Amino acid sequence: AVPARPAMRRPLPPELIERGECPFDPPAELGRLRGEGPVAPITLLNGARAWMVTGYREAREAFGDPRFSSDKFRHRDALQLTPEEVAAGTCPHAPESATPSGHGLFIFMDPPEHTRLRRLLIGEFTVRRMRALESRVTELAVELIEDMRAAGNRADLVADFALPLPSLVICELLGVDYADRARFQRSAAVSLNFRLPEQERLRAGAELREFMRELVASKRAAPGDDLLSGLVHGDADPALTDLELVDIATTLLTAGHETTANMLALGTFALLEHPEQLAALRADPALVDGAVEELLRYLSVLHLGTTRVATEDLTLGGVDIAAGDTVLLSIPEADRDPEHWPEPDRLDVARPRSPHLAFGHGVHQCLGQQLARVEMRIGYAELLDRLPGLSLDVPAGDVPLRTDMIVYGVHELPVTWR
Ligand code: HEM
Repeated sequence: AVPARPAMRRPLPPELIERGECPFDPPAELGRLRGEGPVAPITLLNGARAWMVTGYREAREAFGDPRFSSDKFRHRDALQLTPEEVAAGTCPHAPESATPSGHGLFIFMDPPEHTRLRRLLIGEFTVRRMRALESRVTELAVELIEDMRAAGNRADLVADFALPLPSLVICELLGVDYADRARFQRSAAVSLNFRLPEQERLRAGAELREFMRELVASKRAAPGDDLLSGLVHGDADPALTDLELVDIATTLLTAGHETTANMLALGTFALLEHPEQLAALRADPALVDGAVEELLRYLSVLHLGTTRVATEDLTLGGVDIAAGDTVLLSIPEADRDPEHWPEPDRLDVARPRSPHLAFGHGVHQCLGQQLARVEMRIGYAELLDRLPGLSLDVPAGDVPLRTDMIVYGVHELPVTWR
């Protein structure tokens, strides 16, 4: 069980976050922990105890087990969060909430509250709906790449492609004016940077919510043909409150651009650093679907934030976990589990398909996964097709890594082409 909450925050020790020589491999310390077993005790920097799950089978089991709660508002004592930390948020999919109850932050809710909100959204993100977006996603991707080409033969792939593409798509889907991106991209980035002072993160989160509050009000006054207008004027029973709408929209906007942006940039970096894989993909574009799944597994960019609290005494991976214990599910490490994946540390775009955990599993499994897949498939294919000779414009060791962020990736990716 977890001791009483000390005044100090509960950051993870840096060795569980910082990367070693290979920017794509999870921290070596996680591999060492796996040596102790698929579920191993860890000590947080404030001295509190928690469990780290590194096994694929055990992580999948925990994601699917209703005895593990995602509700960080209800379990804030077990998680040793101060109210400020709860409000500041610790997950890319829900940067913050103005009140410590998390009105519409369904990623931090358990059934049945979670089910009520998820049900309202699930129909908007089906494979069919997302397939219908393909031609628009292609148009946007081509436009961004052609702008890069028109400006010369070097670019920062993050600023010029990987971030704008999913941002444009989620803006169109939700009915957010992309011209406002300076407001929401910066606020989202600050609120997801766990190294920044709490106050700064809180302020950024509040700005993002203010932006969303204005947007919800404008959809109420003048509905458009978009997802948010649909929710504002929908027939949910009971009706969604404005606080819920703000939280839902904030979650979708943040999740919709931060995660995929990092997969696009880090995935391109990984392909450039594995020329034989890049060549295989260029030679057979039909490999792209498999390459997307393999990059998702290999990179598993949501490297932090999938935290659960046990609601009763239970056993996981042969380990006794007490009610109230905090359990961290390491997706990057589970997706490299040698008990589950042959040659887990090898990037192999032709690897036989098998479900990975990059989108989680169970009731919270990523709502936007089909959208992310469409964006990645089209994004990688157009990049490779339209930028012949694509290569890094700096030594690989100089690419700044996002070990300070809840979604892993690169801050910049300077590239050049012929
Ligand atoms: C949930 C990963 C893209 C929206 C999740 C979870 C993971 C994840 C691991 C589960 C979190 C947990 O169980 O605690 C990713 C990755 C993405 C991506 C790796 C990109 C490659 C997106 C996009 C959207 C989105 C494009 C757009 C709407 C959500 C939402 C949830 C979620 C709303 C919460 C679902 C729930 O609680 O029911 N995502 N995601 N994600 N994701 Fe994503």
